[in-house]
Amino acid sequence: MQAGLEPAWKKCVMKVLGIESSCDETAAAVVEDGTTLLSNVVASSIDLHVEFGGVVPEIAARSHIESTTPVIKQALAQAKTSWDEIDAIAVTNGPGLGGSLLIGVLTARTLAIAKNKPLFPVNHVQAHVLANFLTKTSLPDYKLPAYAPKFPCLALIVSGGHTQLVLFNDCFDYHVLGQTQDDAVGEAFDKVAKILGLEYPGGPSISRLATRGDAGMFNFPKAKLGGKYDFSFSGLKTAVLRLAQKEIGQSYDFPSHLIADKLADQQKADFAASFQRIAIETLVDKLAQAYQEYKPASVVIAGGVAANQKLRQQVSKQGFSSVIITDPKLCTDNAAMISASGFFAAEQGNIQADPYTLETNPSLAM
Ligand code: KG4
Ligand code: ZN
Repeated sequence: MQAGLEPAWKKCVMKVLGIESSCDETAAAVVEDGTTLLSNVVASSIDLHVEFGGVVPEIAARSHIESTTPVIKQALAQAKTSWDEIDAIAVTNGPGLGGSLLIGVLTARTLAIAKNKPLFPVNHVQAHVLANFLTKTSLPDYKLPAYAPKFPCLALIVSGGHTQLVLFNDCFDYHVLGQTQDDAVGEAFDKVAKILGLEYPGGPSISRLATRGDAGMFNFPKAKLGGKYDFSFSGLKTAVLRLAQKEIGQSYDFPSHLIADKLADQQKADFAASFQRIAIETLVDKLAQAYQEYKPASVVIAGGVAANQKLRQQVSKQGFSSVIITDPKLCTDNAAMISASGFFAAEQGNIQADPYTLETNPSLAM
């Protein structure tokens, strides 16, 4: 416990201001009691990265510097909450891009000192799961789960940097069953989109184009791995590349960035739909296997790829007793999940950070 702060806040933490800056989104949100979303503001620098086909760390960090203050102000205003009413600050301290994390963490540290608020560091990947505990909001256009996940809860975490199956016995008591051995599934969407000449981020681009394609047109092999619940997506991306080269009558050394120009629109749509089918089947097969083995009370799908409609449909068809997948706006990076995590950390009496010394940890693991 940080010297000078009374433990009384533990009993009364209600409203938590969350700050997220791990990648290209600068986000701030206010959440009450870990369950009620009062505000959710996200400023993305994605437009600045599109021409490079991926996030440029230097550009992302500079953009966070510009956006942090206005985004926090907007989050407080949207929540109709003054600084006096904020009980704690939560901030992502990892994993993520070093420069990006630093801006959010330094901002949160400064505010915690200036406003005399307790500060909670949050693991970004874990927070994606805790986003599913937000069940109430007065904000328009959010479709939140009717009830919070029950424990034990089996979580499939699918984002641009992570693909993991994790069994949660409680918010902070979990066991990683398996994870990707190479690329994350979101990364595979992004890389395949690049081969097909689609805009970054690849996930939404592929899923949009896939609606016009034949998902059965191409078949790609699914990786077989030693770990029962481990994943591998780099082979799938390479299989798409090889077949695309073959389809345009070229050999393996034909440069990937020249392929898209030689593919017909329908071929691109068929590649997008076929790739998406295999990627989703891979995820859902392992999820179903883990469900049978662990018989969880709830299943949660979390992270940016959980915004994918086909994945949501396939999971809902499995007949799991309780499936929770929050609003797509809370699947991709946001700060509401950081606020909720901060509340649960405070509620469970987790040790708060010293605002004078809290460090970032770009490779923070679950
Ligand atoms: O969780 P997230 O916003 O950031 C990370 O923590 O990585 O996830 C971003 C990833 C990107 O790879 C993006 O292409 C993917 O999520 N994504 C999607 C969809 N929306 C975002 N993938 C498939 N279908 C989508 N609709
Ligand atoms: Zn994320």
